[in-house]
Amino acid sequence: MNDVRPLVQSTVVELLGQLGSSREARQYLEQFSRVNESRFAVIKVGGGILADQLDELVAALAFLHRLGLYPIVLHGAGRQLDDALADAGIETRKHDGLRVTTEDVMAVARPVIYRENARLVDALERHGVRARGLLHGVFECDFADRETLGLVGRVQSVDLDAIRGAVSAGALPVVACLGESRAGQVMNINADIATRELVWAIRPYKIIFLTPTGGLLDEDGRVISAISLTHDFQTLIAQDWLHSGMQLKLEQIRDMLEPLSPSASVSITSAAKLTRELFTHTGAGTLVRKGERIEWFDAIPDDRREAFETLLETSFDRRLRPDWLDGRDPLGMFLAESGRAAALILTGCDGVPYLDKIVVTPEARGEGLGAALWQALRAKCPTMYWRARANNPIAPWYFQQADTCDRRAGWVVYTIGIESPDQRARLVDDASARDSGWVEGASGA
Ligand code: ARG
Repeated sequence: MNDVRPLVQSTVVELLGQLGSSREARQYLEQFSRVNESRFAVIKVGGGILADQLDELVAALAFLHRLGLYPIVLHGAGRQLDDALADAGIETRKHDGLRVTTEDVMAVARPVIYRENARLVDALERHGVRARGLLHGVFECDFADRETLGLVGRVQSVDLDAIRGAVSAGALPVVACLGESRAGQVMNINADIATRELVWAIRPYKIIFLTPTGGLLDEDGRVISAISLTHDFQTLIAQDWLHSGMQLKLEQIRDMLEPLSPSASVSITSAAKLTRELFTHTGAGTLVRKGERIEWFDAIPDDRREAFETLLETSFDRRLRPDWLDGRDPLGMFLAESGRAAALILTGCDGVPYLDKIVVTPEARGEGLGAALWQALRAKCPTMYWRARANNPIAPWYFQQADTCDRRAGWVVYTIGIESPDQRARLVDDASARDSGWVEGASGA
Protein backbone atom coordinates (compact mmCIF):
# COMPACT_ATOMS: atom_id res chain seq x y z
CA MET A 1 0.00 0.00 0.00
CA ASN A 2 1.57 3.30 -0.94
CA ASP A 3 1.52 6.68 0.82
CA VAL A 4 -0.95 8.45 -1.40
CA ARG A 5 -3.77 6.12 -0.54
CA PRO A 6 -5.00 7.86 2.62
CA LEU A 7 -4.99 11.13 0.68
CA VAL A 8 -6.89 9.68 -2.22
CA GLN A 9 -9.26 8.05 0.20
CA SER A 10 -10.09 11.26 2.02
CA THR A 11 -10.81 13.00 -1.29
CA VAL A 12 -12.98 10.19 -2.37
CA VAL A 13 -14.79 9.98 0.92
CA GLU A 14 -15.65 13.62 0.50
CA LEU A 15 -16.99 12.91 -2.93
CA LEU A 16 -18.99 10.04 -1.59
CA GLY A 17 -20.46 12.39 0.95
CA GLN A 18 -22.36 13.97 -1.89
CA LEU A 19 -24.23 10.70 -2.33
CA GLY A 20 -25.58 10.50 1.18
CA SER A 21 -23.59 11.37 4.23
CA SER A 22 -19.85 10.97 4.24
CA ARG A 23 -20.21 9.21 7.56
CA GLU A 24 -22.29 6.54 5.89
CA ALA A 25 -19.81 6.29 3.05
CA ARG A 26 -16.86 6.01 5.39
CA GLN A 27 -18.61 3.30 7.39
CA TYR A 28 -19.17 1.19 4.28
CA LEU A 29 -15.66 1.82 3.02
CA GLU A 30 -14.36 0.51 6.33
CA GLN A 31 -16.65 -2.50 6.17
CA PHE A 32 -15.60 -3.35 2.63
CA SER A 33 -11.91 -2.84 3.37
CA ARG A 34 -11.98 -5.01 6.46
CA VAL A 35 -12.33 -8.29 4.60
CA ASN A 36 -9.39 -9.80 2.77
CA GLU A 37 -8.70 -7.85 -0.44
CA SER A 38 -9.99 -10.44 -2.87
CA ARG A 39 -13.11 -11.08 -0.79
CA PHE A 40 -14.79 -7.71 -1.10
CA ALA A 41 -17.08 -8.49 -4.02
CA VAL A 42 -17.87 -10.54 -7.06
CA ILE A 43 -19.56 -8.49 -9.76
CA LYS A 44 -21.45 -10.29 -12.47
CA VAL A 45 -21.79 -8.28 -15.67
CA GLY A 46 -23.98 -9.49 -18.51
CA GLY A 47 -23.12 -9.07 -22.17
CA GLY A 48 -25.85 -6.45 -22.51
CA ILE A 49 -24.08 -4.15 -20.06
CA LEU A 50 -20.79 -4.54 -21.94
CA ALA A 51 -22.61 -3.56 -25.11
CA ASP A 52 -24.69 -0.64 -23.83
CA GLN A 53 -23.16 0.67 -20.61
CA LEU A 54 -19.43 0.16 -20.89
CA ASP A 55 -18.61 3.75 -19.91
CA GLU A 56 -20.75 3.68 -16.77
CA LEU A 57 -19.32 0.29 -15.86
CA VAL A 58 -15.73 1.43 -16.27
CA ALA A 59 -16.36 4.61 -14.29
CA ALA A 60 -17.88 2.63 -11.41
CA LEU A 61 -15.08 0.07 -11.37
CA ALA A 62 -12.41 2.78 -11.62
CA PHE A 63 -13.93 4.45 -8.62
CA LEU A 64 -13.76 1.29 -6.51
CA HIS A 65 -10.21 0.67 -7.66
CA ARG A 66 -9.18 4.16 -6.55
CA LEU A 67 -10.60 3.41 -3.13
CA GLY A 68 -8.34 0.39 -2.92
CA LEU A 69 -11.17 -2.08 -3.44
CA TYR A 70 -10.73 -4.99 -5.84
CA PRO A 71 -14.02 -6.45 -6.99
CA ILE A 72 -13.72 -9.55 -9.11
CA VAL A 73 -15.53 -8.98 -12.36
CA LEU A 74 -17.15 -11.96 -14.06
CA HIS A 75 -18.69 -11.31 -17.43
CA GLY A 76 -20.86 -13.09 -19.93
CA ALA A 77 -21.29 -12.27 -23.60
CA GLY A 78 -24.69 -13.75 -24.30
CA ARG A 79 -26.00 -11.04 -26.49
CA GLN A 80 -22.80 -10.71 -28.56
CA LEU A 81 -22.80 -14.46 -28.97
CA ASP A 82 -26.39 -14.55 -30.21
CA ASP A 83 -25.52 -11.90 -32.79
CA ALA A 84 -22.34 -13.63 -33.92
CA LEU A 85 -24.12 -16.96 -34.24
CA ALA A 86 -26.90 -15.37 -36.25
CA ASP A 87 -24.29 -13.79 -38.54
CA ALA A 88 -22.65 -17.17 -39.00
CA GLY A 89 -26.03 -18.71 -39.78
CA ILE A 90 -25.91 -20.98 -36.74
CA GLU A 91 -29.15 -21.48 -34.86
CA THR A 92 -29.03 -20.76 -31.11
CA ARG A 93 -30.37 -23.74 -29.22
CA LYS A 94 -30.98 -23.94 -25.50
CA HIS A 95 -31.65 -26.93 -23.32
CA ASP A 96 -32.90 -26.31 -19.77
CA GLY A 97 -31.72 -22.74 -20.14
CA LEU A 98 -28.19 -23.78 -21.14
CA ARG A 99 -26.70 -22.95 -24.51
CA VAL A 100 -26.11 -26.09 -26.53
CA THR A 101 -22.45 -25.70 -27.47
CA THR A 102 -21.46 -27.75 -30.50
CA GLU A 103 -17.94 -27.43 -31.87
CA ASP A 104 -19.28 -24.99 -34.46
CA VAL A 105 -20.84 -22.88 -31.73
CA MET A 106 -17.61 -22.95 -29.75
CA ALA A 107 -15.65 -21.87 -32.79
CA VAL A 108 -17.79 -18.74 -32.92
CA ALA A 109 -18.09 -18.27 -29.15
CA ARG A 110 -14.44 -18.37 -28.14
CA PRO A 111 -13.26 -15.34 -30.14
CA VAL A 112 -16.39 -13.42 -29.14
CA ILE A 113 -15.74 -14.04 -25.46
CA TYR A 114 -12.04 -13.17 -25.84
CA ARG A 115 -12.98 -9.99 -27.64
CA GLU A 116 -15.51 -8.89 -24.99
CA ASN A 117 -13.04 -9.63 -22.23
CA ALA A 118 -10.37 -7.58 -23.97
CA ARG A 119 -12.81 -4.74 -24.58
CA LEU A 120 -13.48 -4.38 -20.86
CA VAL A 121 -9.84 -4.78 -19.86
CA ASP A 122 -8.76 -2.21 -22.45
CA ALA A 123 -11.43 0.26 -21.42
CA LEU A 124 -10.33 -0.05 -17.79
CA GLU A 125 -6.67 0.40 -18.66
CA ARG A 126 -7.49 3.45 -20.75
CA HIS A 127 -9.14 4.81 -17.63
CA GLY A 128 -5.96 4.30 -15.65
CA VAL A 129 -7.20 1.16 -13.91
CA ARG A 130 -4.92 -1.83 -13.89
CA ALA A 131 -6.89 -4.85 -15.03
CA ARG A 132 -6.10 -8.41 -15.97
CA GLY A 133 -8.20 -10.57 -18.27
CA LEU A 134 -8.51 -14.14 -17.05
CA LEU A 135 -9.67 -16.41 -19.85
CA HIS A 136 -8.29 -19.71 -18.60
CA GLY A 137 -7.25 -21.49 -15.51
CA VAL A 138 -10.04 -20.45 -13.16
CA PHE A 139 -12.74 -23.08 -13.72
CA GLU A 140 -11.88 -26.73 -14.14
CA CYS A 141 -14.81 -28.54 -15.70
CA ASP A 142 -16.06 -31.82 -16.93
CA PHE A 143 -18.84 -32.29 -19.43
CA ALA A 144 -22.24 -31.39 -18.05
CA ASP A 145 -23.95 -33.68 -20.56
CA ARG A 146 -21.85 -34.21 -23.65
CA GLU A 147 -24.65 -35.89 -25.63
CA THR A 148 -27.19 -33.08 -25.40
CA LEU A 149 -25.16 -30.02 -24.46
CA GLY A 150 -21.85 -30.54 -26.21
CA LEU A 151 -19.03 -28.42 -24.82
CA VAL A 152 -20.91 -27.13 -21.80
CA GLY A 153 -18.84 -27.41 -18.67
CA ARG A 154 -19.92 -28.46 -15.21
CA VAL A 155 -17.55 -26.80 -12.77
CA GLN A 156 -15.45 -29.30 -10.83
CA SER A 157 -13.14 -26.92 -9.06
CA VAL A 158 -12.24 -23.27 -8.97
CA ASP A 159 -8.61 -22.21 -8.90
CA LEU A 160 -8.22 -18.82 -7.26
CA ASP A 161 -4.47 -18.37 -7.81
CA ALA A 162 -4.78 -16.22 -10.91
CA ILE A 163 -7.43 -14.04 -9.27
CA ARG A 164 -5.40 -13.55 -6.12
CA GLY A 165 -2.32 -12.90 -8.22
CA ALA A 166 -4.08 -10.14 -10.11
CA VAL A 167 -5.35 -8.51 -6.93
CA SER A 168 -1.99 -8.58 -5.20
CA ALA A 169 -0.50 -6.96 -8.30
CA GLY A 170 -3.06 -4.18 -7.93
CA ALA A 171 -5.11 -5.25 -10.95
CA LEU A 172 -8.84 -5.91 -11.21
CA PRO A 173 -9.42 -9.51 -12.30
CA VAL A 174 -11.79 -9.70 -15.27
CA VAL A 175 -12.91 -13.30 -15.55
CA ALA A 176 -14.63 -14.88 -18.56
CA CYS A 177 -17.15 -17.71 -18.28
CA LEU A 178 -14.90 -20.30 -19.87
CA GLY A 179 -13.43 -23.39 -18.31
CA GLU A 180 -11.25 -26.29 -19.32
CA SER A 181 -11.32 -30.00 -18.80
CA ARG A 182 -8.31 -31.63 -17.21
CA ALA A 183 -7.13 -32.47 -20.71
CA GLY A 184 -7.41 -28.84 -21.80
CA GLN A 185 -10.67 -28.90 -23.72
CA VAL A 186 -12.18 -25.40 -23.55
CA MET A 187 -15.78 -25.38 -22.32
CA ASN A 188 -18.58 -22.90 -22.14
CA ILE A 189 -20.04 -22.23 -18.69
CA ASN A 190 -23.42 -20.66 -18.12
CA ALA A 191 -22.76 -17.24 -16.56
CA ASP A 192 -25.12 -17.71 -13.60
CA ILE A 193 -23.54 -21.04 -12.77
CA ALA A 194 -20.04 -19.60 -13.12
CA THR A 195 -21.06 -16.78 -10.75
CA ARG A 196 -22.37 -19.21 -8.18
CA GLU A 197 -19.25 -21.38 -8.32
CA LEU A 198 -16.93 -18.38 -8.08
CA VAL A 199 -18.95 -16.98 -5.18
CA TRP A 200 -18.81 -20.26 -3.31
CA ALA A 201 -15.06 -20.45 -3.80
CA ILE A 202 -14.40 -16.86 -2.76
CA ARG A 203 -17.15 -16.33 -0.20
CA PRO A 204 -17.22 -12.59 -0.82
CA TYR A 205 -18.87 -9.98 1.34
CA LYS A 206 -20.90 -8.58 -1.56
CA ILE A 207 -22.26 -10.20 -4.68
CA ILE A 208 -23.35 -7.72 -7.30
CA PHE A 209 -25.44 -8.28 -10.39
CA LEU A 210 -25.40 -5.40 -12.84
CA THR A 211 -28.53 -5.44 -14.96
CA PRO A 212 -30.15 -2.96 -17.35
CA THR A 213 -33.23 -2.59 -15.07
CA GLY A 214 -31.09 -1.96 -12.00
CA GLY A 215 -32.98 -4.25 -9.64
CA LEU A 216 -35.85 -6.68 -9.23
CA LEU A 217 -39.12 -5.05 -10.17
CA ASP A 218 -42.45 -5.19 -8.39
CA GLU A 219 -45.82 -5.45 -10.10
CA ASP A 220 -45.82 -1.74 -10.97
CA GLY A 221 -42.35 -1.94 -12.48
CA ARG A 222 -40.70 -0.24 -9.51
CA VAL A 223 -37.42 -1.51 -8.08
CA ILE A 224 -37.94 -3.53 -4.88
CA SER A 225 -35.48 -2.02 -2.44
CA ALA A 226 -34.77 -4.91 -0.11
CA ILE A 227 -35.65 -8.57 0.13
CA SER A 228 -35.11 -10.68 3.19
CA LEU A 229 -35.20 -14.30 2.11
CA THR A 230 -36.38 -15.41 5.56
CA HIS A 231 -39.34 -13.05 5.51
CA ASP A 232 -40.18 -12.43 1.87
CA PHE A 233 -39.13 -15.40 -0.23
CA GLN A 234 -42.30 -17.51 0.05
CA THR A 235 -44.63 -14.59 -0.50
CA LEU A 236 -42.65 -13.23 -3.43
CA ILE A 237 -42.35 -16.56 -5.20
CA ALA A 238 -46.13 -16.98 -4.98
CA GLN A 239 -46.94 -13.64 -6.66
CA ASP A 240 -48.43 -14.06 -10.10
CA TRP A 241 -46.74 -10.86 -11.31
CA LEU A 242 -43.27 -12.25 -10.60
CA HIS A 243 -42.30 -13.51 -14.03
CA SER A 244 -40.46 -16.78 -14.38
CA GLY A 245 -37.07 -15.19 -15.13
CA MET A 246 -37.17 -13.27 -11.88
CA GLN A 247 -38.45 -16.25 -9.98
CA LEU A 248 -35.50 -18.27 -11.21
CA LYS A 249 -33.10 -15.46 -10.34
CA LEU A 250 -34.46 -15.28 -6.81
CA GLU A 251 -34.15 -19.03 -6.36
CA GLN A 252 -30.58 -18.92 -7.64
CA ILE A 253 -29.74 -16.13 -5.22
CA ARG A 254 -31.23 -18.07 -2.34
CA ASP A 255 -29.13 -21.14 -3.20
CA MET A 256 -26.05 -19.01 -3.68
CA LEU A 257 -26.37 -17.27 -0.28
CA GLU A 258 -27.20 -20.51 1.53
CA PRO A 259 -23.65 -21.57 2.49
CA LEU A 260 -22.34 -18.03 2.99
CA SER A 261 -22.13 -16.05 6.22
CA PRO A 262 -25.27 -14.09 7.21
CA SER A 263 -23.39 -10.83 6.61
CA ALA A 264 -23.03 -11.57 2.89
CA SER A 265 -25.54 -9.91 0.60
CA VAL A 266 -26.52 -9.65 -3.02
CA SER A 267 -27.13 -6.30 -4.68
CA ILE A 268 -28.88 -6.10 -8.01
CA THR A 269 -28.28 -2.68 -9.46
CA SER A 270 -27.10 -0.90 -12.59
CA ALA A 271 -23.60 0.24 -13.51
CA ALA A 272 -24.58 3.88 -13.05
CA LYS A 273 -26.08 3.26 -9.59
CA LEU A 274 -23.45 0.94 -8.21
CA THR A 275 -21.61 3.55 -6.15
CA ARG A 276 -24.80 4.77 -4.53
CA GLU A 277 -25.89 1.21 -3.83
CA LEU A 278 -22.63 0.35 -2.12
CA PHE A 279 -21.98 3.47 -0.09
CA THR A 280 -25.37 4.54 1.24
CA HIS A 281 -27.79 2.93 3.67
CA THR A 282 -30.78 3.23 1.38
CA GLY A 283 -28.84 2.11 -1.67
CA ALA A 284 -30.09 2.14 -5.25
CA GLY A 285 -31.23 -1.24 -6.44
CA THR A 286 -32.41 -4.43 -4.77
CA LEU A 287 -30.54 -5.76 -1.76
CA VAL A 288 -31.12 -9.45 -1.03
CA ARG A 289 -30.03 -10.93 2.27
CA LYS A 290 -30.70 -14.16 4.05
CA GLY A 291 -32.40 -12.04 6.63
CA GLU A 292 -32.62 -12.51 10.32
CA ARG A 293 -35.34 -13.77 12.57
CA ILE A 294 -37.49 -11.35 14.50
CA GLU A 295 -38.47 -12.89 17.78
CA TRP A 296 -41.41 -12.15 20.01
CA PHE A 297 -40.98 -12.03 23.80
CA ASP A 298 -43.89 -11.80 26.23
CA ALA A 299 -41.87 -9.43 28.37
CA ILE A 300 -38.56 -7.60 28.05
CA PRO A 301 -36.08 -10.41 28.73
CA ASP A 302 -33.76 -9.42 31.58
CA ASP A 303 -30.65 -10.21 29.61
CA ARG A 304 -31.79 -8.03 26.70
CA ARG A 305 -32.96 -5.01 28.61
CA GLU A 306 -29.67 -3.16 28.70
CA ALA A 307 -28.96 -3.73 25.02
CA PHE A 308 -32.46 -2.53 24.19
CA GLU A 309 -32.00 0.64 26.23
CA THR A 310 -28.66 1.33 24.57
CA LEU A 311 -30.22 0.80 21.16
CA LEU A 312 -32.96 3.31 21.97
CA GLU A 313 -30.58 5.86 23.45
CA THR A 314 -28.04 5.75 20.63
CA SER A 315 -30.67 5.71 17.88
CA PHE A 316 -32.65 8.64 19.28
CA ASP A 317 -29.60 10.35 20.76
CA ARG A 318 -31.40 10.86 24.10
CA ARG A 319 -31.25 9.42 27.60
CA LEU A 320 -33.91 7.25 29.20
CA ARG A 321 -34.80 7.87 32.83
CA PRO A 322 -33.61 4.96 35.02
CA ASP A 323 -37.24 4.42 36.10
CA TRP A 324 -38.68 4.69 32.58
CA LEU A 325 -40.19 1.21 32.68
CA ASP A 326 -42.10 1.78 35.94
CA GLY A 327 -45.78 2.21 35.22
CA ARG A 328 -45.46 0.57 31.82
CA ASP A 329 -47.42 -2.61 31.28
CA PRO A 330 -45.56 -4.51 28.54
CA LEU A 331 -47.57 -6.80 26.34
CA GLY A 332 -44.26 -7.90 24.88
CA MET A 333 -41.56 -6.99 22.45
CA PHE A 334 -40.15 -7.86 19.06
CA LEU A 335 -36.42 -8.14 18.82
CA ALA A 336 -34.35 -8.83 15.72
CA GLU A 337 -31.68 -11.51 16.07
CA SER A 338 -28.86 -9.02 15.55
CA GLY A 339 -30.35 -6.65 18.12
CA ARG A 340 -30.53 -3.85 15.54
CA ALA A 341 -34.29 -3.51 15.53
CA ALA A 342 -36.93 -3.75 18.25
CA ALA A 343 -40.47 -2.75 19.12
CA LEU A 344 -41.96 -2.49 22.58
CA ILE A 345 -45.71 -2.97 22.84
CA LEU A 346 -47.76 -2.15 25.93
CA THR A 347 -51.24 -3.16 26.93
CA GLY A 348 -52.96 0.11 26.23
CA CYS A 349 -56.35 1.66 26.81
CA ASP A 350 -59.23 -0.88 26.51
CA GLY A 351 -56.57 -3.59 26.13
CA VAL A 352 -55.63 -2.33 22.65
CA PRO A 353 -51.88 -2.78 21.97
CA TYR A 354 -49.98 0.50 22.26
CA LEU A 355 -46.77 0.72 20.25
CA ASP A 356 -44.57 2.44 22.78
CA LYS A 357 -41.13 2.31 21.16
CA ILE A 358 -39.95 1.23 17.76
CA VAL A 359 -36.35 1.45 16.72
CA VAL A 360 -34.31 0.31 13.72
CA THR A 361 -30.70 1.33 13.15
CA PRO A 362 -30.22 3.27 9.88
CA GLU A 363 -27.99 0.59 8.44
CA ALA A 364 -30.56 -2.11 9.21
CA ARG A 365 -33.21 0.02 7.55
CA GLY A 366 -31.27 -0.21 4.28
CA GLU A 367 -31.41 -3.96 4.65
CA GLY A 368 -35.17 -3.88 4.93
CA LEU A 369 -35.25 -4.87 8.60
CA GLY A 370 -37.64 -2.04 9.40
CA ALA A 371 -40.16 -3.34 6.90
CA ALA A 372 -39.77 -6.87 8.25
CA LEU A 373 -40.32 -5.66 11.80
CA TRP A 374 -43.42 -3.76 10.77
CA GLN A 375 -44.77 -6.85 9.04
CA ALA A 376 -44.26 -8.91 12.20
CA LEU A 377 -45.93 -6.19 14.21
CA ARG A 378 -48.96 -6.04 11.94
CA ALA A 379 -49.36 -9.82 12.03
CA LYS A 380 -49.26 -9.80 15.84
CA CYS A 381 -51.42 -6.73 16.39
CA PRO A 382 -54.36 -6.34 14.00
CA THR A 383 -55.37 -3.33 16.07
CA MET A 384 -52.93 -0.91 17.62
CA TYR A 385 -52.18 2.73 18.20
CA TRP A 386 -49.12 4.89 18.65
CA ARG A 387 -47.97 8.47 18.58
CA ALA A 388 -45.16 10.55 17.11
CA ARG A 389 -44.24 14.19 16.72
CA ALA A 390 -45.46 15.77 13.51
CA ASN A 391 -41.87 16.57 12.51
CA ASN A 392 -40.70 12.98 13.03
CA PRO A 393 -38.94 11.97 9.79
CA ILE A 394 -41.00 8.78 9.74
CA ALA A 395 -44.31 10.68 10.05
CA PRO A 396 -45.21 10.45 6.34
CA TRP A 397 -44.63 6.73 6.44
CA TYR A 398 -46.74 6.33 9.61
CA PHE A 399 -49.43 8.31 7.87
CA GLN A 400 -49.47 5.76 5.06
CA GLN A 401 -49.62 2.79 7.40
CA ALA A 402 -52.29 4.11 9.76
CA ASP A 403 -56.04 4.06 9.28
CA THR A 404 -56.51 7.29 11.21
CA CYS A 405 -54.40 10.07 12.58
CA ASP A 406 -55.35 12.85 15.00
CA ARG A 407 -53.40 15.74 16.36
CA ARG A 408 -53.55 16.19 20.12
CA ALA A 409 -51.33 18.13 22.52
CA GLY A 410 -48.39 18.42 20.14
CA TRP A 411 -48.62 14.76 19.14
CA VAL A 412 -49.99 12.94 16.15
CA VAL A 413 -51.82 9.82 17.29
CA TYR A 414 -52.20 7.00 14.79
CA THR A 415 -54.57 4.03 14.97
CA ILE A 416 -54.99 0.86 12.96
CA GLY A 417 -58.09 -1.35 13.00
CA ILE A 418 -60.18 0.80 15.35
CA GLU A 419 -63.77 1.12 14.08
CA SER A 420 -65.56 2.93 16.88
CA PRO A 421 -65.16 6.73 16.97
CA ASP A 422 -65.64 6.72 20.76
CA GLN A 423 -62.89 4.24 21.27
CA ARG A 424 -60.65 6.12 18.88
CA ALA A 425 -61.20 9.29 20.94
CA ARG A 426 -60.22 7.43 24.11
CA LEU A 427 -57.06 6.07 22.47
CA VAL A 428 -56.09 9.52 21.22
CA ASP A 429 -56.52 10.96 24.72
CA ASP A 430 -54.57 8.13 26.25
CA ALA A 431 -51.67 8.23 23.79
CA SER A 432 -51.17 11.95 23.95
CA ALA A 433 -50.95 11.89 27.75
CA ARG A 434 -48.40 9.09 28.08
CA ASP A 435 -44.97 9.29 29.63
CA SER A 436 -42.20 9.24 27.04
CA GLY A 437 -39.65 7.82 29.43
CA TRP A 438 -36.93 10.14 28.12
CA VAL A 439 -35.01 12.47 30.37
CA GLU A 440 -36.68 15.94 30.05
CA GLY A 441 -39.58 14.29 28.23
CA ALA A 442 -39.82 17.13 25.70
CA SER A 443 -40.06 15.03 22.57
CA GLY A 444 -39.42 11.56 21.22
CA ALA A 445 -41.77 8.75 20.38
N1 ARG B 1 -24.71 0.01 1.09
C1 ARG B 1 -25.21 -1.17 1.67
C2 ARG B 1 -24.72 -2.41 0.94
O1 ARG B 1 -24.26 -2.32 -0.16
C3 ARG B 1 -26.72 -1.15 1.77
C4 ARG B 1 -27.40 -1.13 0.45
C5 ARG B 1 -28.90 -1.02 0.59
N2 ARG B 1 -29.49 -1.21 -0.69
C6 ARG B 1 -30.81 -1.37 -0.95
N3 ARG B 1 -31.18 -1.53 -2.21
N4 ARG B 1 -31.69 -1.39 0.02
O2 ARG B 1 -24.76 -3.49 1.46
